[in-house]
Amino acid sequence: MKNICSILTVSSLVILALVSAVAISCHQNPAKEIAYSPERIEIGQAVVEGWNCTFCHSPQIQGPDGKFIADPKRFMSGHPSDEELPTVPDMVMTSPEWMEFLDNLDSTVWATDNLIVFSANLTPDDETGIGTWSETEFVETIREGRHKGIERRIKYPMPWQELSELSNEELLSVYEYLMTLEPVDNKVPPSIVLFR
Ligand code: HEC
Repeated sequence: MKNICSILTVSSLVILALVSAVAISCHQNPAKEIAYSPERIEIGQAVVEGWNCTFCHSPQIQGPDGKFIADPKRFMSGHPSDEELPTVPDMVMTSPEWMEFLDNLDSTVWATDNLIVFSANLTPDDETGIGTWSETEFVETIREGRHKGIERRIKYPMPWQELSELSNEELLSVYEYLMTLEPVDNKVPPSIVLFR
């Protein structure tokens, strides 16, 4: 009896060790292992939809009724890296004003008199999205208008000044909502300077 008990004890310890090893290896990204509250995710989703982040950050496809919608397969994944670069019309190049996006360009490409800017990948992909970003890096990006809060400046038309009016709770909810999205592997190109 004693022997059976010790065999059982040893084998359950081995099983426990194996289970923990698997659990640890599944949880490499600390940001994504957190179970966020459904209420917060709902707030985050409402902010993302209300502020039209979806429009600028998702490639569009034509829906059944002919209207353009965010492509569900590439939702919030920014400007597609494999898309051909649009030609920027002279009208845009010669305008001293910042330009809104043009009908002939995708809503993930924005042209100004001097720059072509591409919308960022906000899915939790570790390599090409915000999968490895901390909550603080995300909130500070919006508050400071800098990549991860301290790096390069975030360019127009990303409305970070307006978005920085959101409360910490709202911005954290946006982060949490984004972390629950399907990661999309899409490396958005850096912006292009047209004239130096
Ligand atoms: C009018 C279009 C537009 C809207 C609306 C918009 N964005 Fe952006 N966003 C952009 C563009 C374009 C960039 C890339 C700017 C750059 O490369 O400097 C960007 C960049 C970002 C970045 C920085 C990514 C990085 O790698 O540094 C974050 C974070 C972000 N947007 C979050 C949001 C969120 C959250 C919302 C909605 C609450 C939102 N954006 C709404 C166009 C938009």
